[in-house]
Amino acid sequence: MFLIILATLLAATSPVVLAQSPSPACNTTLLRLATDRYVATQSTGSLSYLFDFPPLSPSSSSPSSSFITLKENGRNLTLSPSSSSAFLNSSSLLTTPLRIDHRHSIYDSIQCASFTSLVSTSPSYPAVIGAQLWLDPSTHRISLLDRIATTTGDWAFNATGTLYYSLRENWGPIPPAQQDSRETIKAAGDAYLDIFKSATVQVPWGTPCARLEGGAYTGRGTPNDTCNLGVIQSYDMPNRRYVIDESVGVVSLLLEFGSIGNAPDSHLFRVEGGRLRFIHTMTYCETKPNCGFTLPGGMGGGTVGKRTWRRRWRLNGQ
Ligand SMILES: *[C@@H]1O[C@H](CO)[C@@H](O)[C@H](O)[C@H]1NC(C)=O
Ligand SMILES: *[C@@H]1O[C@H](CO)[C@@H](O)[C@H](O)[C@H]1NC(C)=O
Ligand SMILES: *[C@@H]1O[C@H](CO)[C@@H](O)[C@H](O)[C@H]1NC(C)=O
Ligand SMILES: *[C@@H]1O[C@H](CO)[C@@H](O)[C@H](O)[C@H]1NC(C)=O
Ligand SMILES: *[C@@H]1O[C@H](CO)[C@@H](O)[C@H](O)[C@H]1NC(C)=O
Repeated sequence: MFLIILATLLAATSPVVLAQSPSPACNTTLLRLATDRYVATQSTGSLSYLFDFPPLSPSSSSPSSSFITLKENGRNLTLSPSSSSAFLNSSSLLTTPLRIDHRHSIYDSIQCASFTSLVSTSPSYPAVIGAQLWLDPSTHRISLLDRIATTTGDWAFNATGTLYYSLRENWGPIPPAQQDSRETIKAAGDAYLDIFKSATVQVPWGTPCARLEGGAYTGRGTPNDTCNLGVIQSYDMPNRRYVIDESVGVVSLLLEFGSIGNAPDSHLFRVEGGRLRFIHTMTYCETKPNCGFTLPGGMGGGTVGKRTWRRRWRLNGQ
């Protein structure tokens, strides 16, 4: 009897399973390898590292038939391999070798994507870059590199400051029993971005909490440090792209920063116990310096246009 019921169940369900043809699970070893290749590419300027990947994989299509979409600071570029070297159809910082002083990556094994921030304090080209890398779980090839590349003149930019404050913070693994769900981590990041539109949104503020925007830091190193220092209202923060790593309680959002003319933007949130602990931002400015804003003292001097934001924004040591 049991077998008959089982057979009936299988007969009823298997066509559905076949029709859905679930995508293969993400190979996180390859996701990490692909992310290393991206870092190698930025440190050497050599695009071929992205196409030789993965080495000797029988399932991958031939390099000549694949290309990678590169989104950088709101522009769409295409990376194509050629017989001798890879080709990019417009200029990009990706082909400029950068000395990497700091690298921080998170890995999303559900979506098969990673997010990496790179800091270069090299005087010849200081840069802070955030990139979501998307791997096709079927072909094991990089399908999309979505990045924000910032340098001198971008929002509160100071690569030395970014390096200094990043190294003081703990973004390490969270013990499994204390990990938040993907939904909780994502909701915390979304709530923060939603207060730019509406002050009534409930944000799970943590205490202490610190914001690192460009190279400017709000933390004073006290247990009372807060991230609830005001934002530029009231704007949508559209076109959000998420990469989530629950093992470290982090969500990466790339988006259009509504408060400053839909500037290409990266927000990275560290969530602990459901509450915001650290917030790192990079904002690309078409109009330099600082997207046309005058920043408070320590962020470039002067004041910003929005009164509430100016009044409530405080900086470390100011
Ligand atoms: C992931 O890819 C690596 C390299 O190709 C391979 O050795 C490994 O078996 C794969 N892991 C899984 C779980 O398929
Ligand atoms: C880039 O491509 C996306 C679709 O992937 C499109 O929505 C967007 O408008 C394009 N951006 C530019 C600047 O062409
Ligand atoms: C690069 O190629 C893509 C795809 O063909 C196209 O959408 C994009 O506009 C091109 N970008 C430039 C800067 O030529
Ligand atoms: C950049 O940050 C470093 C480290 O916090 C600081 O010493 C330096 O004064 C900052 N530079 C500017 C131009 O604000
Ligand atoms: C933190 O806040 C509490 C309560 O408001 C206050 O008593 C304490 O002095 C504050 N600590 C610091 C380091 O600011």
